[in-house]
Amino acid sequence: MAHYYDSDPQSASKIREISFEIYDRKITLKTDNGVFSKSRVDEGSLAFLKVLLPLNLTGKILDLGCGYGTIGLTIAMFNKDVRVTLADINKRALALCEENAKLLGLSQRVTCLQSDIFENIEGPYDSIVVNPPIRAGKKVTWAMYEGSLQRLIDGGSLYVVIRKNQGGPSASKYIESLFGNVELLKKDKGYYVYKATRAKQN
Ligand SMILES: C[S@@+](CC[C@H](N)C(=O)[O-])C[C@H]1O[C@@H](n2cnc3c(N)ncnc32)[C@H](O)[C@@H]1O
Repeated sequence: MAHYYDSDPQSASKIREISFEIYDRKITLKTDNGVFSKSRVDEGSLAFLKVLLPLNLTGKILDLGCGYGTIGLTIAMFNKDVRVTLADINKRALALCEENAKLLGLSQRVTCLQSDIFENIEGPYDSIVVNPPIRAGKKVTWAMYEGSLQRLIDGGSLYVVIRKNQGGPSASKYIESLFGNVELLKKDKGYYVYKATRAKQN
């Protein structure tokens, strides 16, 4: 069965444009069949951006499981001082991400790369943002949280958005067991935004 997290989707391509508004800016992105949330921007991504943008993140940021780029590219648009790496297993999503970066004039500050979880990603990063692929299962999503701890600078943070009824509380417990801390930053229409910070390592 075809999934949005296939590495090489075989469905017929049908590129289209979608738009969304956030903090008074309209952003238009290209999407296609075979990628996550192909017809409109995901509600969870929007809830996540509403929390992330006012934080004015700085430095090196990783958007893991970036899809066609909604989160990482929007952060790069709003925060001129960041460099963003966007990574996904899905080659079609990655191609769209690169195209969207070009159309938004962000190619100089963002890198799109294919990676199965952290396979091709080194770091370290100041912040890692994840809208996790719940349907891919805990083996994948929990590996994303675990690998994030290893690729953050000391004092760097992991941000995750998860629907409460798609395992938010259990993910939060797992993240806390890894990081020793977790904070619920926002509840928005059933979407929970969590933050966990890597403590100084001895
Ligand atoms: C919930 S979607 C979020 C997409 C995008 N960040 C957004 O907010 O619209 C999760 C993404 O994780 C990607 N993904 C699934 N399994 C993966 C893996 N093993 N390694 C990297 N990315 C993966 C999927 O292809 C999908 O694009």
